[in-house]
Amino acid sequence: MDHPHIRIFAAVAALSLSLAPPALSASPTPVEAEHGMVVTAQHLATNVGVDVLKNGGNAVDAAVAVGYALAVVYPTAGNIGGGGFMTIRLKDGKTTFLDFRERAPLAATKTMYLDAKGDIVPRASLDGYLAVGVPGSVMGFEIAREKYGTKSRQDLLAPAIRYAKEGFTLEQGDVASIAGSAKRLAKDEAAAKIFLKAEGKPYAAGEKLVQPDLAAVLSSIADKGSDAFYKGVPADAIVKASQATGGILAKEDFEQYAVRELKPIECNYRGYDIISSPPPSSGGVIICEILNVLEDYPLSFLGYGSAETVHLMVEAMRYAYVDRNAALGDPDFVENPVSTLLDKGYAKAIRAKIDPYKAGTSANLKPLGVKESVETTHYSIVDDEGNAVAVTYTLNGSFGAGVVAPGTGILLNNEMDDFTSKPGVPNLYGLVQGEANAIAPKKTPLSSMSPTIVTKDGKPFMVVGSPGGSRIITITLEAILNVIDFGMDISQAVNAPRIHHQWQPDKIYLEPYTLSPDTIRALIAMGHTLDDGSGPPQWGQAAGILVGGKSLADIEKGGGARYYGVMDSRATEGSAGGY
Ligand code: DON
Repeated sequence: MDHPHIRIFAAVAALSLSLAPPALSASPTPVEAEHGMVVTAQHLATNVGVDVLKNGGNAVDAAVAVGYALAVVYPTAGNIGGGGFMTIRLKDGKTTFLDFRERAPLAATKTMYLDAKGDIVPRASLDGYLAVGVPGSVMGFEIAREKYGTKSRQDLLAPAIRYAKEGFTLEQGDVASIAGSAKRLAKDEAAAKIFLKAEGKPYAAGEKLVQPDLAAVLSSIADKGSDAFYKGVPADAIVKASQATGGILAKEDFEQYAVRELKPIECNYRGYDIISSPPPSSGGVIICEILNVLEDYPLSFLGYGSAETVHLMVEAMRYAYVDRNAALGDPDFVENPVSTLLDKGYAKAIRAKIDPYKAGTSANLKPLGVKESVETTHYSIVDDEGNAVAVTYTLNGSFGAGVVAPGTGILLNNEMDDFTSKPGVPNLYGLVQGEANAIAPKKTPLSSMSPTIVTKDGKPFMVVGSPGGSRIITITLEAILNVIDFGMDISQAVNAPRIHHQWQPDKIYLEPYTLSPDTIRALIAMGHTLDDGSGPPQWGQAAGILVGGKSLADIEKGGGARYYGVMDSRATEGSAGGY
């Protein structure tokens, strides 16, 4: 706190302390519950999770049932043909992390998305079977259930099987999500047969989506476990379809797939313990690096959305994202400098480089980059015993690679696009990644997914995460800052407008109406470039739970209910549910 502007602004802010917090009171009221809370991006999946908890299942059981259910009722991102991460904190304080993210096929090569001249082949890592990484979700859910759950496979798969077999009624958000990818889905016969009506017509709200092939695959998993997927009919069908259309997936890819159980990233921010995703995600490391930098600034005095706060957040993000892009990758392939990046002394060195009056310039920092994409999903769960689970899983892009192997009903991911297609050269999104994330057989691409659990004094405090590509990190970070530094309740915290900086392009992205015109002018005067138009209109869909009160102030007063949950209003069909 030794920067002069901080002293000045702290003094000014102290004078205005009696002012009310920013006007975010229009956020929906969080859902309250005493025994358990489930927050997901699709209301039917939320109900599945709540039912599991009510029937005596723990948070991991609920997470597994929700994961399978979302594969049916939230096909844009819920999946068994993709992968993801599960952060677990058990009631006894044990923390662990399951990495069931996709891996590159054995036949993958560093240059597989380049043409003979060495140029990137447009969309080769995004569409069709060449874009598909070996899926991990089924093995991830089965290992989670076997090691940390209490219920049978049949119990946890039953709701997903029912929704696939009997169908579920589509609502406005479900229909919009399918319509958004209709053109791509129409190109794949098997996908079109499921997600479009006769003659390629889109479904309307109120109609039912029935997925009999997916029901059959889920039933076979209920009967025989993950071997039914990796050594059975689905793997064979996917390999066959891949080989027929220029893909490189082989039977051995499925046979050799393995889930990793890893130690989560942990750091302390203002007395709160953050537990989040380790490499092959960049999420936990980068959230912690940014928090370490920000910890020495009086953010609550500077205030949510002030030019000073935004400036400091942006500078911390700029430095952390350079590290993300230069240094991080699959831990089985590259040495990740995790202890350096998490070191408080390293954060101090970054603070020393941040000019309190002036925007930094990304061009002066090491020129490596980051990518972003379009659809993923996060859900948060806490049970009666205090077990907490945060899951983010994905097909990467909306509806993944846009292909379904005939007869399986399984949408396949396009996670291969998360690799560096060509080191040092902007990818299809105009972004750049480094050598540490180059493609190699069996390697997992670097992720930004950040399923996060925050504890205080050894007890669960918050469960949070989001989709949003490279913005996942800043969305999750901002939800945490909004609660801890800015005093928002959990609903305000996940619904508040967001800012984002990722080193390159060197500009602050804003959701529309995030900052006032005079705040924007103050940031421009510091040398920042702002952009509230070129990003997606809405960023991510955070799912948050706060324990013991709906806000810090509420908790300090003794709270009310035990759990408060909220699904980001950006998720039209999402919900929080408890009992
Ligand atoms: O793992 C990652 O970082 C990306 N595949 C996540 C993609 C994503 O969040 C898309 N969502 N909006």
